[in-house]
Amino acid sequence: MSEVGAQIHAARERGSLVTLEGGEGVGKSTQIRHLLRNLRDTGIEAISTREPGGSPGAEILRKVLLSGGVARLGPAAEAILFAAARVDHIDKKIEPALAAGTFVVCDRFADSTRAYQGTRGQLDPRFLRALERVTLGDVRPSLTLILDLPAAEGLARTSARRGGGEAPDRFEREDLEFHENLRAAFLAIAAAEPMRCAVVNTARAEADVAHEIFDVILNRLIAPAQAKRERRG
Ligand code: TYD
Repeated sequence: MSEVGAQIHAARERGSLVTLEGGEGVGKSTQIRHLLRNLRDTGIEAISTREPGGSPGAEILRKVLLSGGVARLGPAAEAILFAAARVDHIDKKIEPALAAGTFVVCDRFADSTRAYQGTRGQLDPRFLRALERVTLGDVRPSLTLILDLPAAEGLARTSARRGGGEAPDRFEREDLEFHENLRAAFLAIAAAEPMRCAVVNTARAEADVAHEIFDVILNRLIAPAQAKRERRG
């Protein structure tokens, strides 16, 4: 274990929640694999998880949500079901891991509800804010990486990945305008909360993106935590 990792481990502090967000095909899953490896190489105990899903109960809801069956119930019911999946995921997996001092990296979280369910403009923003407040309680991300790519490029990546056989899911089926609005919604979240969010351009080589992401984590989370511990002696 490296010196940084040993200190973090010895302090048995609460873990940090880092979320990765963005539109379709921006490269979250690939970057999460790089990030987990980099964290573990530094000696930091880390797990990755995803939404919708991440716990057995939430994975059941994931199937219903992505099949598009819930869309028929309307945008409010859909947002509530994403939130229901999130409550189970937080209770069963995220909160216990954070309490045990583990670093949790989550593929999508509450900003996806803000962006995807908010983008059509059919839901009152006050409804989405209230839903987020009761869903998250005190479990807030320490850092959110918004992976950014032009919408058309992201969609081309997802359809190439899917190949000919597999059908697009509920959200991949939406039109280009929806996906462009989605990208703007994520960038607006980052602009509104610059202390929590960092935008990472993913229209670059995979390794360069991985490097930038780890740099942001080191500068914004790991180095300040280490400095705080040193001050405490
Ligand atoms: P997934 O296959 O995990 O896609 P991706 O690789 O893009 O993350 O599907 C998750 C889909 O669910 C994705 O299109 C975004 C959508 N979603 C919402 O609409 N609201 C949410 O709160 C979450 C977590 C996801």
